[in-house]
Formats: sequence, structure tokens, C-alpha cells
Amino acid sequence: LPPALGSLREAAFPFGAAVNVTLLRANAGYQGVVTREYRSVTGENAMKFRSLHPDAATYTWADADYLVQYARQSNSRVHGHTLIWHQSLPAWVTGFQGDSAAWENLMRTHIQTVVGHFRGQVASWDVVNEAVAEDGTLRPSVWRQHLGPDYIARAFQYARQADPDARLFYNDYGHEYGPTKRTAILSLVNGLKARGIPIDGIGLQMHTNINRSDANLAAAINTAAQTGLLVHISELDVAVNPSNLATLTWSDALASAQKAKYKLIVQTYNALPAAQRFGITTWNVSDADSWVRGYCSCPDWPLPFDASYQKKPAYDGIVEAL
Ligand code: XIL
Repeated sequence: LPPALGSLREAAFPFGAAVNVTLLRANAGYQGVVTREYRSVTGENAMKFRSLHPDAATYTWADADYLVQYARQSNSRVHGHTLIWHQSLPAWVTGFQGDSAAWENLMRTHIQTVVGHFRGQVASWDVVNEAVAEDGTLRPSVWRQHLGPDYIARAFQYARQADPDARLFYNDYGHEYGPTKRTAILSLVNGLKARGIPIDGIGLQMHTNINRSDANLAAAINTAAQTGLLVHISELDVAVNPSNLATLTWSDALASAQKAKYKLIVQTYNALPAAQRFGITTWNVSDADSWVRGYCSCPDWPLPFDASYQKKPAYDGIVEAL
């Protein structure tokens, strides 16, 4: 059978990609693929703390505003990533000297200014990203150190105040690693929900690879849905070089292993109740612009489009699952 869909835009739930704004501005071919295929966009880096708020009194909106304007013109949704994270912080924050009240003011001002700036234009936010460590404890980030563990709850409250219509997510990776981290994340999220903290959804980054078991991938998705919250697969990619080999050749075997994992993930997600399917976002667009190659310093081909922006078997696997 030929693929049933003309593009991922036609999926029953919003399919999106993390977008490199420099490429979006400069490369018409890149922008063309993003517009043709995706109806949700996340700034790969453009809305991170260091990008938007490089000095205490300086906000730099140009790239993020460009992304928002692009999305409006192309009928796409914008997902905001991310307000509070231990990475991508400017030096003025990591070196900030102040008591807990001064830190609270820093966090609140950042959230309210950023969410307020994009109010009505950014549909959803990763309010807090990666707060949980691999062993299930709260990561000892600057936020945790200076504000105590309940900084997470307060970040959601500040975001809700700044844009009552934005959907608010807790985003993390590793739900598919196994129960330790997954259970810790789910109990954090369920605890927030039980206390009436304004959280709407859970983001599963899903930076995964061809060796991850189908059972663990499915458990990640299905247990997230048991929270009753919206579920966003927020940063999907499927690496084919999980041991970071220095040399590796792309092959039909890798292509079909990768296709099978994409298909399993999208099929499992598609079986969730429609009201909980916030969307699936891949992290980047093509193998040429994937963050994975830089992160692992190794060859890899993690995405549904090849370096020439042609569809790979992974793309067919997604379409077959939709
Ligand atoms: C990555 C970007 O892709 C890189 O360009 C940047 O140098 C570092 O951050 N989890 C996240 C994303 O939540 O923000 C990360 O993005 C990838 C892992």
C-alpha cells in the first residue's frame, strides 16, 4: 500500500520538529520542509534562558520572535522550550549572588517576562526541564540549591499567572530507560497534580536508539498517559549508533531497525486517548542538522529526513503508524 498521508501535517495530532532558527532564516530548502511537514515548531535553542536573557537587564527576542512570526504565517503551533533548566544558563545566573528571596525574584521575573512576552502566541511551555536525576532524586541544580525542591511547583504557578491559556508541561528524558527514573518523574508529576499545581502535561523527550526495547518504549508512553495529563513526545530521535562508534556506515539494516522503532513509538502513541495526544515533536529535521552528531562526536543518522532532506524509511514507518 502507498503511504496514506501526503505529509505529517495531516496526522490526527500535531506533528512537529525542533527548529534551528538560523537555518530557518537562511535556508529556503530547510524552511520548505518544515512548512510542508510540520504543524508544530519548537525552538531548538531560541527560547532557552541563555538565548533570551543573556544579562540580568537584557532580553534578546529577535530569533524567538522570528520563529513565532514564521509559525503564524505557516499555520503552525509554537511550543516553548524551556523556562527553567540546569543547562543553557548565562554566567550571570550561574554566578548570581543573592539570598533565597533574590533567587525567587530572578526565577519569577524570568518566567513572567518570557511567558508574558509570548502570551497568546506560544501555545505551550516546558516550564521545567530535566529536574530529576538518573537515580530518581531531584537534580542538585542551582534552582534546587537556592530555592528548595518546591521551585518546580512555583515555576508552574508563575507561568500560569503570566499566560492562563498556555498549556504547561514538565519535560524530561529517560522514561524509557526503566522504572527508576520513570517512577520518580511520574510521582513528581502526580504530586503536583494532586496539590492543584497548574500542570497540564508531561513531555517525554525520547532521545532514543535502535537498541531500546519495545517494552520499555511502550511503558514510557503508556505510564505517562496514566497520569491523565496531556502527553507530548517532545524531542524524538532514534540514534543508530548507540555505542558511539567512531566509524559506522549507513546501511539497509540500520534503516529498517530505525524504521521499526519509529513505527512502534508512533503506533503506541497513536493508541492513546485522542484528548491526551498533544503531539509528537522530533528533535531537529534532518540527519545533517541533528544535535546527536555533535553530542556523541560520532557518525549517526537519527531523523526521518536524510542530509539532503529526502524521506528515509523512518518517515515511512511514521506514516504507516498514523
Ligand atoms: C540541545 C540542542 O539541540 C543543542 O543545539 C544545544 O547545544 C544543547 O541543547 N534535551 C533538551 C534540549 O531538552 O534542549 C537539548 O537541545 C537536547 C537534550
